[in-house]
Amino acid sequence: MVLSAKIRKMEEKTFTVNYRVYTGSSEFDHKDKELIRCAQEAQQHSYAPYSGFQVGVSLRMADGSLIGHGNLENASYSLCLCAERSALAAAAVMFPGMSVGTICISASAAQQMVSPCGACRQVISETEARQKSPVRVLMQGNEGQWLEFPSATALLPFPFGPENLL
Ligand code: THU
Repeated sequence: MVLSAKIRKMEEKTFTVNYRVYTGSSEFDHKDKELIRCAQEAQQHSYAPYSGFQVGVSLRMADGSLIGHGNLENASYSLCLCAERSALAAAAVMFPGMSVGTICISASAAQQMVSPCGACRQVISETEARQKSPVRVLMQGNEGQWLEFPSATALLPFPFGPENLL
């Protein structure tokens, strides 16, 4: 009896993600084009001899500065560092206290979508919690496309965050 009452209270909810698909980098303004070029250049300098999967990330900081970083692999495989988290760690020391406006992600798999791994989404999400503003995400899509997400929250529904520890 109690169980059936509970079942009737169940609600089905939907999580919607709004994002934009651009046919190519030429559709962006000059600042985003520069950000994309910075990620592609960082990708050239990544160190990925084991996976062969070179990732380049660039950050547009609140004052307009750019940071680029690639993934950094290691013969001890589990020590491989993702480009996203490496770039965010660099930003934290190079621009202490400054917000990250946009993170841009590209990869050597030129015609394929490159989507940040779950661990990196968690770290981008914590960056948003820390700076109290969204981090816009640009990522390479399939066949030359670029995808734009308004925030990491769009990519990581129901994140674990600092408020969970209160
Ligand atoms: N990688 C990143 O740099 N970012 C991601 O979001 C996914 C994966 C790197 C880690 C490793 O060096 C290579 O890509 C293959 O997983």
